[in-house]
Amino acid sequence: MLVVDTIEQLRSYLAAARAEGKSVGLVPTMGALHEGHASLVARSVAENGVTVVSVFVNPTQFNDKGDLERYPRTLDADCRLLQRLGADCVFAPSVEEVYPEPDTREFDFTPLDKVMEGIYRPGHFNGVAQIVSKLFMYVEPDRAYFGEKDFQQLAIIREMVRQMDFKLTIVGCPIVREDDGLALSSRNALLTESQRRTALAISKTLFASVAYAKQHTLAETKQMVEQAIADTEGLELEYYEIVDGNTLQPLTAWDDASYVVGCITVYCGKVRLIDNIRYK
Ligand code: PAF
Repeated sequence: MLVVDTIEQLRSYLAAARAEGKSVGLVPTMGALHEGHASLVARSVAENGVTVVSVFVNPTQFNDKGDLERYPRTLDADCRLLQRLGADCVFAPSVEEVYPEPDTREFDFTPLDKVMEGIYRPGHFNGVAQIVSKLFMYVEPDRAYFGEKDFQQLAIIREMVRQMDFKLTIVGCPIVREDDGLALSSRNALLTESQRRTALAISKTLFASVAYAKQHTLAETKQMVEQAIADTEGLELEYYEIVDGNTLQPLTAWDDASYVVGCITVYCGKVRLIDNIRYK
């Protein structure tokens, strides 16, 4: 497995792979890899001639400086895992390599970026679009892999691909959970043992809400989730929205869409956790 930190090294590696007729899969990450990332990498390895994994904590998508500083960085362990998974190339550039000058591009994904994370993390998706579009331009992958845990991000990246006419397939991969239900996240590494136990209430509540939803209105189900999180000491709800899975717009009745997803963001101490669940 090759580890490179410049765009030039990356491009020359990919030119050689393409000359051999190999297709290219890209798994963009911010490192601190876990089994969720591993599932994306394994899928890319199975579907492509070569798999490139980018490991880059992208500063432009953090609207909270403390969050950026706290974000775990574990490149050596990440590379060991990626080697085992059969990745071919790790691209781990410096901030200066990716942003030799400030990226002033402004994206507009209305209405997808005007709800949920778009409200609570202003500028976040603009930063995501900046880095992901750069990665697509460097790598020119045939396929790129993203987790459904970041449900809104996935919808926005699909929209960016449409707007910018990138010629690649976006592959969305299911959330990977611990045996007890906690959605895997790099941020879980920041939880203490007791916070981790507390955080379990998030997935438990979402699972319980699916059964609850069968006998209750959408508003009642939303209220049930909000109340369960409020009743859990150590958790603070940022938002819970039940949305149309295609447009991400909040719904008021189950019959208003055929694809319905509940998206939640909760603070456990200072750690911001997101999760989602499909109702139909
Ligand atoms: O989902 C992530 O880890 C990041 O938002 C991404 C897509 C790697 C862009 O920095």
